[in-house]
Amino acid sequence: MSFKDLPIMADKKKGVLLFYPYVSKKSSKNIKEKLAGRWLGQGPMVDKFENKFKKKFANKFSVIATGSGTDSLHLAYILANLKKGDEIITTIFTCTATNIPMLYMGLKIKFADIDVKTMNIDVKSVKKLITKKTKAIVCVHYGGLPCDMDELLKISKKNNITLIEDAAHALGAKYNGKTIGSLSDFSTFSFQAIKHFTTGDGGMLTIKNKKLEDKAKRIRWFGIDRKKKQQGIWKNDVHEIGYKYQMTDIAATMGCDSLDEFDRILKHRQKIYNTYLEEFSDNSKVLSIHDDDKKKEHGAWLFTINVNNKDELQRKLRQNSIETNQVHFRNDRYSIFKKFVRGKKFPNMDYLENRYLVLPVHHKVTVSDAKYIGRLVNKFAK
Ligand SMILES: Cc1ncc(COP(=O)(O)O)c(C=O)c1O
Repeated sequence: MSFKDLPIMADKKKGVLLFYPYVSKKSSKNIKEKLAGRWLGQGPMVDKFENKFKKKFANKFSVIATGSGTDSLHLAYILANLKKGDEIITTIFTCTATNIPMLYMGLKIKFADIDVKTMNIDVKSVKKLITKKTKAIVCVHYGGLPCDMDELLKISKKNNITLIEDAAHALGAKYNGKTIGSLSDFSTFSFQAIKHFTTGDGGMLTIKNKKLEDKAKRIRWFGIDRKKKQQGIWKNDVHEIGYKYQMTDIAATMGCDSLDEFDRILKHRQKIYNTYLEEFSDNSKVLSIHDDDKKKEHGAWLFTINVNNKDELQRKLRQNSIETNQVHFRNDRYSIFKKFVRGKKFPNMDYLENRYLVLPVHHKVTVSDAKYIGRLVNKFAK
């Protein structure tokens, strides 16, 4: 099926776009001041952003700001001490960014199927993939809905396997009253253009084991100990391969400004999310991807539905100037992952592949927009 007739929608007065970047109004002034000052690259604002983030989301865990969510994921895989040939279990359904860094490192990817109701990694499927060579499990809180963390933490502990949460969608989400970012060995976040808020590009990594903090900071910056270098000491050896994965002070300025507004950002997104949920509650033809599990508090990044006539519905919505999309695609459709999926079956992913569709949730969507979109979906879904 071609979607040539559905180009990215123009930013015009009429209609509702699928995504819109959130930038704090304070940032124009604050970035202007930053541009006139000394620190543009990694400087004091990065420390400030990390501290603010830690207080809000990471409890006592270490917090490392990076250049992107993908940088954070790669850093987490390195810090988990994963080596070429190690087995890593991950979800078949996610942004390719979750799984591509595994290819940088020559890891053996074991794809797990997803749960039909939540589109998160299916715990039963994970259990079947565990072998003596399994070194890590990566879960993605799809759309902002936490995975089954009790189960995943239990599996990780029992088998001595590192658990890594890709929380790019799940800023502000909670599990058992605890913020995502304060639960497992590693959690990664993204501040790319269309996330809850953006720093242009940017990411965060939270780490449970404090002993890894210095190493994380070195690997983020070529393998060099920055503090020692800034003291003018050149004796320190570079003994690990590092990367250039740091955040800039310009990005951190945007991050600090938006973090001050985060409670409001999240509340609005959750309101839009709940409006859709309510709109579809009585319609058996529109299944909302969600979970009634009270342990899970949704981060409301995406609202996804499951319908019989996805393509037709997408077109009808576009005729009414509503932009929708599938956003992420199953990773086994991409050639780079083909060698890991030969002969493997993903029945839940097969079932959902042509049925799911993401509706607009962002700060410019109003409750009346969501009700209007809800009515259109109810009218056109089959
Ligand atoms: C699930 C998931 N993981 C990771 C990323 C990568 O984040 P970034 O674009 O900041 O590298 C994204 C999206 O961008 C994502 O959706």
